[in-house]
Amino acid sequence: MGSCIAFVSGKGGTGKSTLSCTLATMLSEKNQRVLIIDLDKGLKCQDIFFGIDKDIVFDLSDALSSGNYNDSMYYPKNYKNICVIAAPPKDNEINKELFLKFLNKFRKEFDTVILDMPAGLDFSILEGIDGLTCICVSNSDPISVRGAYAVKCSLNEINISPYLIVNKFDKILMENGLYNNFDDIIDISGLRLLGVVPNSSELLLFPVCRKLKKRGKAYNSLKRISGRLCGERILLPHPGKI
Ligand SMILES: Nc1ncnc2c1ncn2[C@@H]1O[C@H](COP(=O)(O)OP(=O)(O)O)[C@@H](O)[C@H]1O
Ligand SMILES: [Mg+2]
Repeated sequence: MGSCIAFVSGKGGTGKSTLSCTLATMLSEKNQRVLIIDLDKGLKCQDIFFGIDKDIVFDLSDALSSGNYNDSMYYPKNYKNICVIAAPPKDNEINKELFLKFLNKFRKEFDTVILDMPAGLDFSILEGIDGLTCICVSNSDPISVRGAYAVKCSLNEINISPYLIVNKFDKILMENGLYNNFDDIIDISGLRLLGVVPNSSELLLFPVCRKLKKRGKAYNSLKRISGRLCGERILLPHPGKI
């Protein structure tokens, strides 16, 4: 059974979709077959990230209601081993039972299934997913970190213990004394730190350029995270080097 990773956050705009997409490409570079499911009903975006927005006809709700899964699976050219399923319109309910059945089928066919979740604290769709790796994406400002703590509390109620990625990190917050180090963010959020991604124009431009400079700061931070997700022991660099 392949792994399943959900990107969640309390606040919107923290970078769940950006990290879902870029980590999918990193994992595919490790020769993994990756399925990415956009679960942000009414606000789909993975089709834009992968340059297939003009191709999408069927989405997740079509797949679940018709059972014709293949019609909703899009394989963007230029990305080896990646398949994308688009999010439904806002009024289409995602049937939980059908979704779990669908997920279990494709976890046998893909090495990793990535779930790009909407912002907020409703995680009912994640309940009952075996061996789920849940990653809370927070920015490093105090409001976002408080949101990460709220995510932890809601997920703990359904027995999910999430990791934390600090995204759009800017060392100015440490230089100005808001935090002494990453331990402060870990303490406030109550979450286990999986990685830190810098505030980066390359990531901001990813939907346009669809490329990260190899060995640039953004690329390196994502490579460290994808390595850790694959069980490698990779230390966090000094904040000034992120
Ligand atoms: N590390 C980053 N550095 C700079 N901009 C980023 C970074 N991560 C995400 N962004 C930008 O932040 C905005 C929100 O990102 P998005 O992934 O859509 O967030 P979410 O899915 O959590 O709502 C987008 O404009 C995206 O390009
Ligand atoms: Mg999103």
